[in-house]
Amino acid sequence: MANKILVTGGAGYIGSHTAVNLIENNYEVIIVDNLSNSEEKIIDGIEKITGIRPEFYQFDLCDIKKTNNFFAKHTDIKAIIHFAAYKAVGESVSLPLKYYHNNIASLINILQNMTDFNIPNLVFSSSCTVYGQPEKLPVNENAPIQPANSPYGNTKQISEEMIKDTILSNKNINTIALRYFNPIGAHKSSIIGELPIGVPNNLIPFITQTVAGLRKELSVFGNDYNTPDGSAIRDYIHIEDLAEAHVIAITRLLEQKNKQNFEYFNLGTGQGNSVLDVINTFEKFTGKTVNYKIVPRREGDVEQVWADTSFANKELNWKAKTSLGNSLLSAWNWEKKLRGIH
Ligand code: NAD
Ligand code: WQD
Repeated sequence: MANKILVTGGAGYIGSHTAVNLIENNYEVIIVDNLSNSEEKIIDGIEKITGIRPEFYQFDLCDIKKTNNFFAKHTDIKAIIHFAAYKAVGESVSLPLKYYHNNIASLINILQNMTDFNIPNLVFSSSCTVYGQPEKLPVNENAPIQPANSPYGNTKQISEEMIKDTILSNKNINTIALRYFNPIGAHKSSIIGELPIGVPNNLIPFITQTVAGLRKELSVFGNDYNTPDGSAIRDYIHIEDLAEAHVIAITRLLEQKNKQNFEYFNLGTGQGNSVLDVINTFEKFTGKTVNYKIVPRREGDVEQVWADTSFANKELNWKAKTSLGNSLLSAWNWEKKLRGIH
């Protein structure tokens, strides 16, 4: 029988792509999502791509009663991938308690139920935000964790600490925390992708919406950084490469190949690209022009960060394969399909 994997936040951007990849690798996927930042049509999309509809439950993982009832009824779950969280950095500054409540309370409920129902394996969505502006680039997993520069970032640091403490008290739980850099793009089918609500905060959806005519122009936040072209540098990783790493992490845990009961890996491409690189590459691969203007730096942005992925390459035998150009093209194809552009 297929191993049953609970994917929390599985209707969301990264969760839905991971669900597809899990199903394609013969895992049985069960999704819990309250649809606070997603839509049920994404579950239809997962079914359309894979031919299998994952079991889906809509409720809030901060609801202790509903969460406990769910786990009491699903005692055959072998592992959890916990994606469910709020992720808007700017909003977390203005509404910190919303972020602390959702991201921390849901994880407490997950960890409590893992303990109560002897669920031994967890993959946790962490973020490169834990590194802040690293002193050395590319940044590896041993770099010091910097004070968080947003409540959102702090929830990821606190979550990693909470998991470590839980594992110290319960040696039966094994966790892999995956620290994502900047996930971008969409599934090759353009059936699932990123669904930002309102005005996008992130660079790629802002670009695709600008080119699609929904936004007048992109604001490039700063051209006075200490980088070759003056714009900030990030590590943009394609969503399908990211999803693949989750399946590998799950398999590693189920096959008990992890070397410690708390492991953490950077997931990036290992390559840094500036905002202007991204715009130029987008234009080259899509043949479209991106309207943009340079504006002052955005508060809270680090100058440059990209991943040292050698640990994930070696230990997970995983490497991001998709080029920046193809990642951007997939984002544009998704936007076109969403807006009915031919
Ligand atoms: P997303 O918002 O698309 O997906 C998160 C999903 O979780 C949504 O479908 C939402 O409805 C659901 N959710 C949120 N709170 C919930 C709750 N209390 N109960 C049930 N469902 C809930 O976000 P994403 O981009 O797919 O991110 C997934 C995870 O990866 C998050 O933990 C995020 O912090 C982390 N992460 C994301 C990025 C990124 O740039 N996208 C980078 C690093 C880390
Ligand atoms: C990328 C670059 C902007 C929008 C965020 C979170 C991080 C992680 C990934 C969750 C930056 C520039 C952007 C725009 C621009 N998420 N930019 N104009 O800030 O690197 O990372 O998402 O864990 O924690 O902070 O991503 O896509 O917002 O920005 O010039 O309209 O694009 O300044 O240099 P970021 P982003």
